[in-house]
Amino acid sequence: MSHFLYDALKKYKNKDMSSFHTPGHKNNFSIKYKNLLNFDFTELDDTDNLYDPRNSIDKAQNSAAKFFHTEKTLFSANGNTLAVKAMIAAVTNPGDEIIITRNIHKSVMIAVILLDLKPIWVYPEKNSFNKISKKKIEILFKKKPNVKALLVTSPDYYGVMCDIKELSSVCKKNKISLLVDNAHGTHLACFFPEKLHPAMLGADLCADSAHKTLPVLTSGAFLHVINGKYKKRAKDAMSLFGSTSPSFPVLTSLDLAVDWMKKNGRSAFLRLKEKVKKIRRIANEKGIPVLNTKLQDPARIVLGISNKNICKKVFSEFKVQPEIYLSNSLILIVSPFNRTKDFLRLKKVISRLKPASDCEEVLPEFLPKQEIVTSPRESYFADSETRDTQNTLGKISAKFICPCPPGIPIVMPGERVNQETLFSLANAGIRKIRIVK
Ligand SMILES: Cc1ncc(COP(=O)(O)O)c(C=O)c1O
Repeated sequence: MSHFLYDALKKYKNKDMSSFHTPGHKNNFSIKYKNLLNFDFTELDDTDNLYDPRNSIDKAQNSAAKFFHTEKTLFSANGNTLAVKAMIAAVTNPGDEIIITRNIHKSVMIAVILLDLKPIWVYPEKNSFNKISKKKIEILFKKKPNVKALLVTSPDYYGVMCDIKELSSVCKKNKISLLVDNAHGTHLACFFPEKLHPAMLGADLCADSAHKTLPVLTSGAFLHVINGKYKKRAKDAMSLFGSTSPSFPVLTSLDLAVDWMKKNGRSAFLRLKEKVKKIRRIANEKGIPVLNTKLQDPARIVLGISNKNICKKVFSEFKVQPEIYLSNSLILIVSPFNRTKDFLRLKKVISRLKPASDCEEVLPEFLPKQEIVTSPRESYFADSETRDTQNTLGKISAKFICPCPPGIPIVMPGERVNQETLFSLANAGIRKIRIVK
């Protein structure tokens, strides 16, 4: 018998690893979720139609909108990748300029290429985590009066949020739409009355990768329309890019998660916040650097590491699987569905790390800067060839190069390869890229 994927997943499951990665349900399911496999139906009169809902999906989306305080919340069974593309398509027309912070996920770049947009990049402040200067944005708005929107990723992979309230007031003053890729922060809505979710802080639209931190099946996401004027275009854009066969188990898990958040979300995440504080404190006392910054997701843990291979060995010895090992840090995604034993294992790993040799200060990943030569769409579809990276200095990239995770592009189509690009590609272990002929 050859059930390749089934066998691989069964083998991984049997290892009984502690999941500090997505999805947020951690495979720790209640009976309702276990039933979902029996509910794999298609769009019928009895089940409703995702892109023209009249009954149960409409009611489920309205219930979500009420919880998130939005004008409309749309369900995606194609991940946040769909929600991000639809969010951008809802506010732009082909050829438009859009200001985008550079630490984006590749889904933003897909939209830029498909919609033939002109990106204007803004980089987070030097050595900062996701700090976007309000002044820089104000200056850009003055310099580029035709800009349609500002798009930020908040929180970023490290769980660091932008000052959405401040950015929203600048956008409103200049009549520019604020779009937030809130992939990593759906659960922030559970911390009410504290306002942490972008929908509560002045975003016009916001895309949530709900499956990352909540009890939602992988690929379940929300597109929130807070500014009602984008309702129709957002709905149309979801059907433009989405599959015509959305998974009902995934959609239903979004509905169940909204109900769970309404009933249990606040207390569960407040308890989790305390557990996270404790883990951060233990790591601190041990001398292990812990990311500790303003505007930080209370439910994310980032530890500084120096030797990836040693850390990987220690973590796997204690059956702890982080979300990702970056060049000088590792990211742990925790959720209320982590088991008590997961936290116990995590404490044990931390006690085994050697601060001096295994760990160093958590620093943001380096984001290279390149000159934009041609439009991303034009370069993406241009005649191109694959070359060894060392033979590409000064050439124009034809594709976006994007180690995944974290899914943040190093170089975009239409950008000229320079020394910074080559440094980042080498760090990511990328040896070949496609360049415009
Ligand atoms: C910032 C960001 N945006 C969008 C996405 C895409 O989300 P999904 O995997 O749900 O399609 C991701 C996924 O990692 C992400 O990190």
